[in-house]
Amino acid sequence: MKIAVFASGNGSNFQALVEYFLKKNQLATIEWLFCDQPNAFVLQRAQRLGIPFHSFSPKEFPSKKKYEEKILEILMDKEIDLVVLAGYMRIVGATLLEAYESKIINIHPSLLPAFPGLHGIRDAFKAQVTKTGITIHYIDKGVDTGPIIYQEKITLSKEETLESLEAKIHQIEHQSYPKVIEKIIEEMNSGGIKHD
Ligand code: GRF
Repeated sequence: MKIAVFASGNGSNFQALVEYFLKKNQLATIEWLFCDQPNAFVLQRAQRLGIPFHSFSPKEFPSKKKYEEKILEILMDKEIDLVVLAGYMRIVGATLLEAYESKIINIHPSLLPAFPGLHGIRDAFKAQVTKTGITIHYIDKGVDTGPIIYQEKITLSKEETLESLEAKIHQIEHQSYPKVIEKIIEEMNSGGIKHD
């Protein structure tokens, strides 16, 4: 099973995925990183980890369709089976959604449908919730609305700060995302993808 990861920034989830599947390389390999931000730190991680990558921005293309067609061309060329978004800060368009139907997964740092969008951790913290968490879900054409695969809760402590909450969320992301992807791959291998 060949996986591509899409990211836009830091790339800590990308690194956790690469390290996990290097240990379990019979099941899946991270074949490619795509990044839409030419200066993102994730590109340095890819270089260090020896993962092939491309980086280009939609601004370099006349339309979103053309941008995604270029990505799709590389996905096809590399025979990618599954696309894993890990901090990819764009809405996936019809070109990729149609080509990879039910094969694009995302991780979001809140308990969806609560706190979708760019600032899931901060928005939950500001709302003074007692619990928040992470959601792993399939991508559809909405923003953080696709069928949910997995959620994990965190209870905020009385002394919680935004920084401590961010650290907790990232820690469970790094632990859970690779394991959930592994389970999805096992289901794909056994012929069925189970979701609503
Ligand atoms: C993660 O919190 C993820 O849930 C969200 O974007 C963040 C990416 O972090 N979609 P990193 O780039 O993997 O460090």
